Amino acid sequence: MNTRFTQQSGVAYPIICGAMYPCSNPELVAAASEAGALGIVQPLSLVYVHGYDYLEGLRYIRSLTKKPYGINVIVEKSSRIYERRMQEWVDIGLEEGCRFFITALGNPRWVVDKVKKANGYVYHDVTERKWALKALDNGVDGLICVNNRAGGHAGTKSPLQLREELLDLGVPLICAGGIGEPADFVQALQLGYDGVQMGTRFIATFECAEKDSYKQAIVKAEENDIVLTERVTGVPLSVIRTPYVEKIGTKVNPLSRWLLQNRWTKSWMRLWYAIVSGWRFKQITLKGGSSKDYWQAGKSVEGIQAVEHVGDIIKKFATAANS
Ligand SMILES: Cc1cc2nc3c(=O)[nH]c(=O)nc-3n(C[C@H](O)[C@H](O)[C@H](O)COP(=O)(O)O)c2cc1C
Repeated sequence: MNTRFTQQSGVAYPIICGAMYPCSNPELVAAASEAGALGIVQPLSLVYVHGYDYLEGLRYIRSLTKKPYGINVIVEKSSRIYERRMQEWVDIGLEEGCRFFITALGNPRWVVDKVKKANGYVYHDVTERKWALKALDNGVDGLICVNNRAGGHAGTKSPLQLREELLDLGVPLICAGGIGEPADFVQALQLGYDGVQMGTRFIATFECAEKDSYKQAIVKAEENDIVLTERVTGVPLSVIRTPYVEKIGTKVNPLSRWLLQNRWTKSWMRLWYAIVSGWRFKQITLKGGSSKDYWQAGKSVEGIQAVEHVGDIIKKFATAANS
């Protein structure tokens, strides 16, 4: 269980509870860290979905666990206001003692510059070698290898393909996607990964604040029930196929597609989708959900058989890897 990732992050087990907008409530993050994994804060989720002042949210997590946690930084340049806010949040995270950051989209350089001054670590989400090389040129320490089984914005390559493509780069590799049960974890470690990042598995837990209907949908779903839709964020997102998803389809209209691809308008379009989906999730949280919800999940649903406690899941994974 001693990998480059556990050495750098200071956690007992090479397991990350991945950032999830909107599912990363502070209790979930803290429970994962307390159980020996690395819980990751999703700042937008903490503030805009779960309603915490950012600093108070981090201090609340600290009151629940003294163990390390990480922070997710989506570095896309959608607006100056967002960028400035994100920079402030990284500074506050460092002041509060966080030393592990997971960046996604965009160029992680400014995050690396800040975090390195504090002797911390930055891992970057990648789906292929081209992005991995760019992230390494910009100083990241490790790679979160997002494969074609992942929840959220999935990659296109299998865990094996990605590992083969990235192994010679010589940095810690984390397998993100398709890890739902202990055997998947053991297999990822056997493939040579330094750890795993799970999202979907941790939604179906008692510590996650999502509605029970969402958790039960994950428990009931099989791998073939997962489809990619462009209708939520403008880029393919893994969701459970429900009658609503089937009814409205999974593609955006031709005008939106053009605006999403145009170099001048794509950032604005992504921002627009983020605002609309944020608003939708807020409505769902406030009003208790409806048949029009999107349930994000990855193909790891296949191995998820019950809603469980975070600590029990991590214990089972650790036991399987040690035996
Ligand atoms: C509901 C949901 C929301 C997510 N939101 C984010 C996010 O805000 N930032 C991020 O870097 N990754 C995000 N992810 C990706 C996860 O951190 C993780 O890499 C992924 O869930 C792994 O695949 P799995 O769901 O099969 O375990 C999200 C995943 C899910 C399921």
